[in-house]
Amino acid sequence: MEKDLAKRWQEEWQKSPKRNLCVCYDVPKEEVMKAIEAGADTFEKVSAKTYACQGAGCCERLIYRLLEFHQAHQKEQASSDADEQTLPVDKA
Ligand code: FES
Repeated sequence: MEKDLAKRWQEEWQKSPKRNLCVCYDVPKEEVMKAIEAGADTFEKVSAKTYACQGAGCCERLIYRLLEFHQAHQKEQASSDADEQTLPVDKA
């Protein structure tokens, strides 16, 4: 399940990134995703940084979903980095 969510982050980059995620404020999905990658890890931070979802709030759920995908993606990367660090060293 967690892996599926992590994969979704990459998939979202492929699916119409230039299309507006927030139609009220003309904010493309890629702008939201870049803000998340740059450290906006809460809905409030994403909204403050991109101006997304400062209107009727209709895109709130989409932003939370992207945050969830990114969090899963980061967890997966951290665990694969940890796996690499624990590989036995070849002493031959
Ligand atoms: S689509 Fe973002 S506030 Fe309406």
